[in-house]
Amino acid sequence: MPEMDIQKTIQTLEREFRSDLDALSDSRTLDAVRVKYLGRKGKISGLFKAMGELSPDNKRLAGQYLNALKEQIQSALDEKTAVKGSAAAEVDTLDITLPGNRPALGHYHPLSVVLRQITDCFKGMGFAIAQGPDVEREYYNFEALNIPKGHPARDMQDTYFVSGDIVLRTHTSPVQIHVMEKQKPPVRIIAPGRCYRRDTPDSTHSPVFHQVEGLCVDEGISFADLKGVIQTFAKRMLGSDMKIRFRPSFFPFTEPSAEYDFSCVMCRGKGCRICKGTGWVEISGAGMVNPSVFQFVDYDSEKYTGFAFGMGVERIAMLLYEVHDIRLFYENDIRFLRQF
Ligand code: PHE
Repeated sequence: MPEMDIQKTIQTLEREFRSDLDALSDSRTLDAVRVKYLGRKGKISGLFKAMGELSPDNKRLAGQYLNALKEQIQSALDEKTAVKGSAAAEVDTLDITLPGNRPALGHYHPLSVVLRQITDCFKGMGFAIAQGPDVEREYYNFEALNIPKGHPARDMQDTYFVSGDIVLRTHTSPVQIHVMEKQKPPVRIIAPGRCYRRDTPDSTHSPVFHQVEGLCVDEGISFADLKGVIQTFAKRMLGSDMKIRFRPSFFPFTEPSAEYDFSCVMCRGKGCRICKGTGWVEISGAGMVNPSVFQFVDYDSEKYTGFAFGMGVERIAMLLYEVHDIRLFYENDIRFLRQF
């Protein structure tokens, strides 16, 4: 083989190698290129073998060229391998100085927040927490509360009947009876819980809602005690400028009965849209426990007197947070709930 041909062969091989190197895409093809040129049966060793036929002068020359090319290919491949290695190392490395991902924290439902504030207020006045079942006998929901058969409150319209004499409680007042059946005076409890009424949902009605019942029975309890407790609650819960007022009303289980109002949380009594210009918002009913209720639980009504009150949790939450539609509390819309 003449000298020119040796050089040409080497150059062609070098060009081929360069284009192979440029076309490399991953480490598998890198290995393939290494085998193709530097392998035992690769191009370089093939040329070394072919050199046997050359004249001694040309052999020496060809040996020099070929060794140079072999070194060139070797170092080019080594360089590529090193670059790939460090790129992979970068991907695998965990940067422990980066701030972590904070897990999203949940929080209480607005009704739970308000319920907790209410119960804390009464706990501070020495009331214990009592509970009763959501599914009640008519006896507890009505009869023992002096609501006889035929009373409008028993009407199919607002009571969910389960079966026979089983109903979903329409108020928390049946808990009064459960507590008094189990415990002799003095009694001082509040009973928070769910209530159910067959109302068509609208901005102020929900078929499920919450009440907090209050009951206090002892010797010498008077209406003044009721007013004192409600007044203290209003001031502690909503601010020291809160005023309360009682209006005559009727409940079969209290005598005398009243409905009580708080001065409007929004305008503080001046009159606004929320209180329809009156300066007052209705909270719930209250009164002195009717002696005929004491008869159902074997309490001596000559010796003991007591007061009871109800409280609508949604109503207070709506006033506090300026929520204008009770249904928002039950729709589980995360955009609503995130605001609390
Ligand atoms: N249970 C009555 C209601 O649901 C409220 C009430 C409770 C009234 C206690 C008087 C005494 O409207």
